[in-house]
Amino acid sequence: MTRSPVGTPVRRVEGRLKVTGAARYPADHNLSDLAHGYLVLSTIGRGTVRSMNVDPVRAAPGVLAVYTPFEPPPLEPPWAQDPTAGIGYLQFPMQDKEVRYHGQVIGMVVARTFEQARDAAALLEVTYQRRTPNASFADGVPHATQGRPPVDILAAGTGSIDEALARSEVTVTATYTQHPEHHNPMEPHATTAVWQGGHLTLYCGAQAPLLRALQVAPAVGVDPARVHVVSPHVGGGFGGKVVAYPQSVLAASAARELGRPVRVVVTREQLFTVTGHRPAFSQTVSLGADRHGRLNAIKHDAVSSGSVAGPYFGDPADWSRTVYRCPNIHLGARVVPLDVPPATIMRAPNEEPGSFALESAMDELAATLGVDPLALRTANYSTTHPGTGLPWSSKHLDECYRVGADRFGWHRRAAEPGTRVDGDWLVGMGMATLVYPAARFEMAMRVAFRRDGTADVAGATADPGTGMWTVLAVVGADSLGIPIHRIRPDLGDSALASSPLVPGMLAGAGGSTGTASAAPAVRAAAESAIRALRKHAVEHDRSPFHGLSVEDVHYRDGVLHAGRATATFGELLTATGTGRIEAVEATGQGDEVTRHAFASFGACFCEVRVNRWTREPRVARMTCVVDAGTIINTATARNQIVGGIVWGVGQALLEGARVDPASGRIANANLADYPIPVNADIPPVDVHFLSYPDTVFNPLGARGIGELSTAGSAAAIVNAVYDATGIRVRDLPVTMDKLL
Ligand code: MOS
Repeated sequence: MTRSPVGTPVRRVEGRLKVTGAARYPADHNLSDLAHGYLVLSTIGRGTVRSMNVDPVRAAPGVLAVYTPFEPPPLEPPWAQDPTAGIGYLQFPMQDKEVRYHGQVIGMVVARTFEQARDAAALLEVTYQRRTPNASFADGVPHATQGRPPVDILAAGTGSIDEALARSEVTVTATYTQHPEHHNPMEPHATTAVWQGGHLTLYCGAQAPLLRALQVAPAVGVDPARVHVVSPHVGGGFGGKVVAYPQSVLAASAARELGRPVRVVVTREQLFTVTGHRPAFSQTVSLGADRHGRLNAIKHDAVSSGSVAGPYFGDPADWSRTVYRCPNIHLGARVVPLDVPPATIMRAPNEEPGSFALESAMDELAATLGVDPLALRTANYSTTHPGTGLPWSSKHLDECYRVGADRFGWHRRAAEPGTRVDGDWLVGMGMATLVYPAARFEMAMRVAFRRDGTADVAGATADPGTGMWTVLAVVGADSLGIPIHRIRPDLGDSALASSPLVPGMLAGAGGSTGTASAAPAVRAAAESAIRALRKHAVEHDRSPFHGLSVEDVHYRDGVLHAGRATATFGELLTATGTGRIEAVEATGQGDEVTRHAFASFGACFCEVRVNRWTREPRVARMTCVVDAGTIINTATARNQIVGGIVWGVGQALLEGARVDPASGRIANANLADYPIPVNADIPPVDVHFLSYPDTVFNPLGARGIGELSTAGSAAAIVNAVYDATGIRVRDLPVTMDKLL
């Protein structure tokens, strides 16, 4: 029997393409006659475009077209059809003369080369009617409006969360703040658009290719079936490449008008305002407990920044309904709409800020009570979902705590913060709980046996670096019983959506659902394809199995058997002169959600070193123990956990946009002034998977892992900084000045 690759470390099947430069990203498609669009952004924070002098632009070398609010590109309303409207933007670019934020698209110059377009764009003279932008989040917090109605989950007889807090023996209350965080994918957003006979092909980085087709099609007024989105390599994207930002619709529109392919690349600096970001947050958490640390009340009120140009705001308090057993929970979500670019989802959209606040507050409660932070977590362990009371399908977080503490050496933590010194460094340890809800979406997969002995495993999902190419290969190999090298995975192409079923918003990479959604569909399609192959074997008159009954023909590890007759599927299809035998199946969530709650869990332990003299904080090492069910590919799964921690390091120590309240301009919209973690910032990470299959969740038992370690790792770092220094930082990022 072929050994199943599930649960082993498998190298990325597309890795060689990527490291040799053979993988083609959206801006790599150098079609003949290609023209280049360059975006022009507003240089005021709010107001109206009064005039634009396009004459010098048109006269510049190579210029083919200039689009402005006075001569807008043809784009079709209504934008409300956009299935991503809730996490995107409200207006197409240039459809009116309003400037709603600094860095809004107010023009596009198309020229023969990128440099010509950029140089010509610099010649555009714009005059504005200026108004004062409302861009200060801090000023807006006291006046925040309701984002969603508050949720109160109260024990019988408790009148309000404040009453529950007042009845608690010990309370802690604190406010935690963070600045907006910006998506900085490896490839900035780019789209190359080509029209041919009324059909549009878009080469673009899309976390959900079919969704991108559904977004762009109405904008250019064609049936979605005529829009082909090609996105085999996304160029990075963790929420930032779900929405079709202006570059996709503008490239499509200009390419049709000009009758030639058009590419629009958003520059690194433009990314900060042309595409979405994680909002700013201010969260106030009050915890009430008895003197042994058993929680009686969690009051979590979050305020998110919002935008006048888009509906999205974050709801981080929501995380606090999933973590600890607690009879009284209050979850508030308010929003401050600002004259800033539209926000969107970013890796662990609610859980990243929510865990920073709650897990910091838990650490503060532990310090107040004088108990071990880990003991406080275990004292409040929940075997049911605190928000719904449903039992967890499978939860081994207690084992994560135990194993993690052992592997990390948690017992060596000093009794008093700020007391452990190693040469020039103050040393501290912190920990946090990781929780990320597990969901799966409907997804269709096609499996095909081919005459050459290989098999296709294909669907319209995406791999923004998550490892989906390899997951398809691994699950395909496992389901068909053949080696991985004989599987031909395919994804990242809207034409692979071989199902008439509604694709769902996240038929792709998002919400940590990709593997959990795709793997069962691969398994189901493989089983169907095997049935179809056996049927073919008995029905075709040139088959060695012709005339037998289907029940007599068995499939195992790529070979058909009936009595002494055997044939590989390649031999069978060669004998019958058949190119391929295929099946398509779609699978999705069932009614198990009415009986169980589902989440992935983990425990994150961190050692931080703070320089005694410069106060520079460095993450020295981390241990992360993960309970996410079956791990399909331990190599890419480890990448995901480490990747999530990289985001935690960014959140805790480095990232944060600074919006100048007077102009609405982001003062640090570039990678020099907006630092993100580099390899030197990332310590050795010990990742350990428990691997208890969760077959209540799906037949493979695999839950999601993409966002899990972003939901808590920043808090572990901040808690370790406290342990090292005795200084509690409640405003991220933790920079040296806050540790003086
Ligand atoms: Mo994401 S924020 O799951 O793309």
